[in-house]
Amino acid sequence: MTNYVNEIQRRRTFAIISHPDAGKTTLTEKLLLYGGAILSAGSVKGKKANKHAVSDWMEIEKQRGISVTSSVLQFEYNDFCINILDTPGHQDFSEDTYRTLMAADSAVMVIDASKGVEAQTKKLFKVCLLRKIPVFTFINKMDRAAMNPFELLEHIEIELGIATYAMNWPIGSGKEFKGVYERDHHRIIAFHGGDHGQKAAEVSEGTLEDETFRGVLGDHFFEQLREESELLDIASTEFDQELISKGELTPVFFGSALTNFGVEPFLSHFLDMTTSPLPRESTQGEINPMDERFSAFVFKIQANMNKAHRDRIAFMRICSGRFEKGMEVMHMQQNRKIKLSQPQQFMAQDREIVEEAYAGDVIGVFDPGIFSIGDTLCDPSMKFEFKKIPTFAPEHFARVTQKDTMKRKQFTKGITQIAQEGAIQVFQEINIGMEEIIVGGVGVLQFEVLEQRLKSEYNVDIKLEILPFQCVRWIDDQALDPNTLNLTSDSKRVRDLKGRNLIIFMNNWGIKWALEQNKGLTLSDVGTAE
Ligand code: G4P
Repeated sequence: MTNYVNEIQRRRTFAIISHPDAGKTTLTEKLLLYGGAILSAGSVKGKKANKHAVSDWMEIEKQRGISVTSSVLQFEYNDFCINILDTPGHQDFSEDTYRTLMAADSAVMVIDASKGVEAQTKKLFKVCLLRKIPVFTFINKMDRAAMNPFELLEHIEIELGIATYAMNWPIGSGKEFKGVYERDHHRIIAFHGGDHGQKAAEVSEGTLEDETFRGVLGDHFFEQLREESELLDIASTEFDQELISKGELTPVFFGSALTNFGVEPFLSHFLDMTTSPLPRESTQGEINPMDERFSAFVFKIQANMNKAHRDRIAFMRICSGRFEKGMEVMHMQQNRKIKLSQPQQFMAQDREIVEEAYAGDVIGVFDPGIFSIGDTLCDPSMKFEFKKIPTFAPEHFARVTQKDTMKRKQFTKGITQIAQEGAIQVFQEINIGMEEIIVGGVGVLQFEVLEQRLKSEYNVDIKLEILPFQCVRWIDDQALDPNTLNLTSDSKRVRDLKGRNLIIFMNNWGIKWALEQNKGLTLSDVGTAE
């Protein structure tokens, strides 16, 4: 019994988020290196050619010949069992990332030191905020020209509205990058350029009051570090683990993933500060991860994982207890018992049957078309539903019509199933049926995928017409009749597949106008189900 408690406590499940090119793939690879999952350091080569890959890990896998699941990467480090949840590299699939963050207990945010907070980081951070999970910041590429570190911290605070605490402090940047000063250990880790590989970097210890570091850094950088460190102590927020756990303060680390600098200190600090599996809200109150009864929710459904199999896999995050192969669980949304007989973890080509797993872990099960995003599976004695996964507002819209009206049944089935997987959002104009629908996505590549899948899996040809809308908002008061609202003539009243009322707007100006014209109207860019 105690064994399963220990197994759960040592789990750390997190996602890495970043704007494309900030270094997420590189950092992931270096974390693997320290976990012993791969043997030698080195950057992932030739990634440019494969920017459209849905999973960056597949690329790492190909390059390195290692086994990485396409949904979660599990490895051991210093008695911790680490689960890194995969998030798609291409921003057009970031809706998947939003949902993956729902399954994570914390997030690592990678920021390019020369660019600061970028658009995609902002969007992803919003989801972390919604979940109130701890966020750890890794400011990457210090070996290149970088923004001033004080400016970077201020930038994060202003753009994201989260307090920062610098765990280490960079000494110079770019060609003059000398290393970092670890504030808690009063030590300098010196940077020597090139690939640090698995070699430990040179370390000097001592407080800045003694002159220990002068020789290491030279006069200029030593004086600068002294001044900046003093300023930091006076001006910055104090370290506060409680605020970190609530997601109100982000510990910041400076480093360079490519040269493998600062990655291991980051990992060990991060593991100390982050959390073991968190409780989850449900219709029966909070579900404690230590509850020995199994419970899980579906956060991702992936079709065509493997061309040879042509199937659909539902990925679920275990929220409590222990999972055992072949166990019988209650699928709450279908109100029936099912046997999880073929639970799998996925490798690029091979599948591996999971014998057991614990709260914090992710397993994939074959989905004959019964699962939807957010579904609850639990021990039959429990009977509850986890709080629904919110739907995030898409930013691209297209009108979809079927070319052959005789194939209406397949068309409706295909669109509905693909929407259930969360691969696309579907809207119907109020008072118009399914013959003509509007689809929404975070990026236009989602539309291409829809078109191809409808053709290959459902044998339906569609006509896609990109619409000039830019935003959609859920109406908070669902009892309100959308027809009574005073809107600009180019706005559209629609309903999603869950029957919720929304308005599609041409731009932000249309939203502003709607709010001004309709007293008491409130709108939301996140659809929170019942
Ligand atoms: P992403 O997953 O967030 O999209 O970023 P990725 O790791 O693919 O990194 C994007 C580019 O930035 C890569 O270069 C990578 O080598 C480089 N990079 C990552 N970390 C660092 C760092 O600490 N310092 C420096 N100087 N560069 C870094 P690329 O030219 O796009 O790819 P490649 O041809 O080098 O593979």
